[in-house]
Amino acid sequence: MQPLLRPARERDLPELLAIYAPEVRHGTASWEWKPPDLEAFGRRFAAQQATPWPWLVAELEGRIAGYGYASRYRPRIGYAWCVEDSIYVAAWARGRGVGRALLAALVVACAERGARQMVAVIGDSANVASIRLHGSCGFREVGRLPAIGFKAGRWLDSVLMQRPLGAGASSPPDLPPPGGP
Ligand SMILES: CC(C)(COP(=O)(O)OP(=O)(O)OC[C@H]1O[C@@H](n2cnc3c(N)ncnc32)[C@H](O)[C@@H]1OP(=O)(O)O)[C@@H](O)C(=O)NCCC(=O)NCCS
Repeated sequence: MQPLLRPARERDLPELLAIYAPEVRHGTASWEWKPPDLEAFGRRFAAQQATPWPWLVAELEGRIAGYGYASRYRPRIGYAWCVEDSIYVAAWARGRGVGRALLAALVVACAERGARQMVAVIGDSANVASIRLHGSCGFREVGRLPAIGFKAGRWLDSVLMQRPLGAGASSPPDLPPPGGP
């Protein structure tokens, strides 16, 4: 069964936080040590919504099964055409194509909005699921930063994966930059 994808809404936030918080508490995909409360999560959502980039929700069997969004890779203007993706799938919905559907849709939506590269900053070299997911969506590994993070009592490597979007680097980007300076 294919997940249904749609833009995220403010009223989804409690369910999205319920997916994210256990990953912060027990996982290494995010290097926060404590989950944000709903208010802080809402501020992040509002800030992301003020950008041109998508925030999508996936539903399976009428329930929110996961979400994914894109944001500018780094704040300086020169990075305006490069986005980073973030994908979180509820534990009960994993291994059923939800992550791939979300990432494939982010790739298309970001390319349509003028992005030329997408980067995944995978917060743990042991995160085989995320590395496979990105590999299956056309990303290739471009680097590893050893032991640059610390969480749950151990140093963590970061794996960088990247894929071009649209015309990639074959032509100059459209101006003005998406989202402005
Ligand atoms: C990583 C994550 C988003 C994958 O989502 P998912 O819906 O389970 O993935 P899908 O079912 O769409 O699978 C996509 C690909 O990843 C592979 N994959 C998924 N889970 C896997 C696992 N546990 N081990 C190995 N490969 C896995 C699938 O086999 C598939 O690869 P294929 O195309 O070669 O067959 C999900 O496990 C998750 O939310 N993890 C915690 C948060 C996280 O790590 N997010 C990523 C941050 S960078």
